[in-house]
Amino acid sequence: MAITAEEKTGTFHLQTDNTSYIFQVMENGELGQLYYGSKIHVRPQYVNLSVREQRNATTAWKLERPDFQPDVLKQEYASFGKGDFRYPAYKLIAENGSRISEFVYKRYEIVEGKTRIAGLPSAFDDTKDDAQTLIIHMEDVFSGLELELSYSIFPHQDVLVRSALFNNCGSKEFTLADAFSAQLDLPDCKYDLLHFSGSWARERHLHRAHLRPGIQSIGSMRTASSAQHNPFIMLARSGADEDTGEVFGFNLIYSGNFLDQVEVDQFETTRILLGINPAEFSWRLLPGQSFQTPECIFSYTAAGMNGLSQQLARFYREHLLPARFAETERPVLINNWEATYFDFDEKKLLSIAEKAKELGIELFVLDDGWFGCRNDDTTSLGDWFADTDKLPLGLDHLAKQIHAMQLKFGLWFEPEMISLDSRLYDRHPEWVIHVPGRAMSPGRNQFVLDFTRQEVVDYLFEAMGRIIEDAHLDYIKWDMNRHITEMFGACLAPEQQMEMPHRYILGVYQLYERLTSSYPHVLFESCASGGGRFDLGMMYYAPQAWASDNTDAAERMLIQFGTSYGYPQSMMGAHVSAVPNGQTGRVTPLETRTAVAFFGAFGYELDITALSAEETFKIKDQIKFYKKYRSLFQFGTLYRIESPFDDEQNVMSWQVVSNDKKHAVACRCQILNRANPPYTRIYFKGLTADQKYTVNDSAEKFYGDELMNAGFFVQQLMDACRHAGVSADFQEALFVLKAVE
Ligand code: GLA
Repeated sequence: MAITAEEKTGTFHLQTDNTSYIFQVMENGELGQLYYGSKIHVRPQYVNLSVREQRNATTAWKLERPDFQPDVLKQEYASFGKGDFRYPAYKLIAENGSRISEFVYKRYEIVEGKTRIAGLPSAFDDTKDDAQTLIIHMEDVFSGLELELSYSIFPHQDVLVRSALFNNCGSKEFTLADAFSAQLDLPDCKYDLLHFSGSWARERHLHRAHLRPGIQSIGSMRTASSAQHNPFIMLARSGADEDTGEVFGFNLIYSGNFLDQVEVDQFETTRILLGINPAEFSWRLLPGQSFQTPECIFSYTAAGMNGLSQQLARFYREHLLPARFAETERPVLINNWEATYFDFDEKKLLSIAEKAKELGIELFVLDDGWFGCRNDDTTSLGDWFADTDKLPLGLDHLAKQIHAMQLKFGLWFEPEMISLDSRLYDRHPEWVIHVPGRAMSPGRNQFVLDFTRQEVVDYLFEAMGRIIEDAHLDYIKWDMNRHITEMFGACLAPEQQMEMPHRYILGVYQLYERLTSSYPHVLFESCASGGGRFDLGMMYYAPQAWASDNTDAAERMLIQFGTSYGYPQSMMGAHVSAVPNGQTGRVTPLETRTAVAFFGAFGYELDITALSAEETFKIKDQIKFYKKYRSLFQFGTLYRIESPFDDEQNVMSWQVVSNDKKHAVACRCQILNRANPPYTRIYFKGLTADQKYTVNDSAEKFYGDELMNAGFFVQQLMDACRHAGVSADFQEALFVLKAVE
């Protein structure tokens, strides 16, 4: 791993174990992108990578240089209005309305390590792992503005972290209209764009399509990264699959409005831009002020999508997740929501906790309905004190009894929200985001607090902190159940109103920052009507995120499989719930619901006090099994084998492998059973070729190469199911592989 700066030629080459990222200072002083891909040798200059031809009908940099045409060049962080007609990386508006700026190279510095960005979630190198950061200083001489482009690399990680910082060092006011976090120009367009889109209860389904001329984009204007589109995208060579081929991954460490944009231009080159969505953003930059963009992650591999997901998962574990939880096994939890909804009292909760203890569960989570006088979703958000009707002895009394059972105790909050029917609203109607004089649009009967007001963040820090201390909380589920409408900041000047969406997210991050640093032992799980804020900004504070309100096993296969491309299993909250499923009405076997949930941060969300003796027996066993292989399920190397997004969408299989490759667990699930089905084999992955393994404690021992290349016979499930008198639809098969001899 190294950063090489060739001062004479103005060439910068960042090498990780397997990748090279190269750019250079062009003749006009701006930066030109040269290469991102498999590692190549360092040379002082790469003329071959920067050659260009003069083209007709194209604008030149200046009269004397008709051959220097910005529109045909690959740029590093493109300016607006100077002859590059593709979408720019930033746009600055001067007092006179001009949108032209030209940041030219001034100097560079290489600093050891990777420092966190104050106020924003960001990658770090706390272990002093020898990360290096290259900062390119640019200036626009005309305006006095400066721009710092930052690039960090980390040992043994094929990942690059980028961001941009604008400093107004001049004497005039400017408005930053667009400010993407990073840009990448690739020399051709023979890629597929893969993105993860859906909706509430249908999050992160994989979509793959060839690039075509013009702009394709996904994004959010909901002030949340959203269930509709996830900020993680990939560009893959058309033939690339799970195990082979070139794949780029891009993601933002951000939870607000975003735009991921891919543009194929007239010369069939590709420009990728990721950052805050310009449609709802601008930032006033007074003299002396700065604007820091969120960070953007680039990652590249020639080893297919499994390779990409694996290197991202490792990077997040080492450089983004809270270190305390990054590799700590997560507790098996019971959440009371689908068991009781709002209808519970202390007795009911304790009966659930007692049963949970008997089953081997480790964490009891009390969901919505414990505060104010909240018996449905129309009241009490903002009143963060216990409902004395439901919990007359108080929250701390309940917590004490749960802790006495040797269970951990956690609570649900929705800190950003307020109900009109609440004491908080009576006291502070001005804290609600609204446009004076206009009607407010409700979402789930609730409204949003103005997190740009410091007193709002202070109130919540104090209210939540008190409960964390009194009830000795071990866990918090931080929910967010509506998107923001009537966006307006009562405390912001008219020319700052477009800052509001980003300032709102900064307020959310401030509260997270204060809570997680004051109470570092508390495990946070983020949630937004299920998986509506499943992003790296949240991951920095909350190691887990509720993947979806949809816990139907067949649908969860799609949601979890899609999510796994960009996020590690340990982040995916995955629970077993009752059947018929609340979202689909579908009945799936307990074994399948459980096997699907195993590949995540595992738990239960059903009335366990109503389990039959047989179910109790099975669940005890299943929890024992999960605990035995927990570290493998949560932190093992994940290999996707058969995709539920392929062809008939009928089968999913995947596998986790231990670091030493001595243990692996695979799961294969089918959706509908087929009569007289084809002969089927499962091709395991990631094993040691010359190591022998048993499969489900078989007498026969198999070499790893045989299991990977010749595969393992999968019996049709029909006979066993007929024998047991159950449907063969939605059945699963688990395979436990152990190295022997
Ligand atoms: C959201 C969450 C659920 C649950 C409810 C409570 O929908 O996604 O898991 O917490 O809120 O109101």
